Amino acid sequence: MTRIGTVVHRVGRVESTMDTAQDLDRDGAVAVAEAQTAGRGRQGRTWTSEPGGLYLSALLRPEAPVDRLGLVPLWTGLAVRDVLARLDVEATVSWPNDVLVGGRKIAGTLATSRLEASPRVVVGIGLNVANPLPEEVRVPATRLADHVDAPVAPDDVLEMLLPAWSARYEAFEADPGSCLDDLREACRTLGREVAVRLDGETLRGPAVDVAPDGGLVVEDGGRRTVRAGDVEEVSA
Ligand code: BTN
Repeated sequence: MTRIGTVVHRVGRVESTMDTAQDLDRDGAVAVAEAQTAGRGRQGRTWTSEPGGLYLSALLRPEAPVDRLGLVPLWTGLAVRDVLARLDVEATVSWPNDVLVGGRKIAGTLATSRLEASPRVVVGIGLNVANPLPEEVRVPATRLADHVDAPVAPDDVLEMLLPAWSARYEAFEADPGSCLDDLREACRTLGREVAVRLDGETLRGPAVDVAPDGGLVVEDGGRRTVRAGDVEEVSA
């Protein structure tokens, strides 16, 4: 069943599909852009969005408990990984929102929530398909076209992504914690030494788990669960 993408709005070139999707109403409605002039990433970063990449956001109206909504960008990353696996491209996820191939970032996810009587979550995916890669990046980047033999276009990926993303959404609505085992298996952050910069302090230690609400559990003189912030992998 297609729960994400029952309605797909093709919006050409926009500032950000995160804004377009905010104006949508129906659960699972999607806005897809050919390019974005002000694409956004986490932590106020820019997401360079030249034609040839896949840039989309969905409006979700989940019934899952509000304290589980932090999982949405994580299982969205798993959906991207599912699609890459179907193309024989092995990917990992890096908490909280990167999808990596060969240690290089191929996709990022972003979610914003409005906790009204029924919560509205806008979740976006930027996936490098055949677009020129940005030069100045925090994590080295890669694109799908460099990992498959045949030419690949954003619409080919979209067609595979919508059912994969829908399946992850359905599973989340049926049992919000159902993605945790897959996350633990796919998340390359776990078992690595990390530094997490928070307001006013930096946590350092091994990342040991993904918490039921999607937070990253770091062992730093005790278990601390991080729900936002920049995570950097550091050598032990
Ligand atoms: C990140 O890695 O920091 C998240 C990147 C998310 C980018 C996507 S592209 C579609 C949607 N529109 C945006 O402005 N951002 C997201």
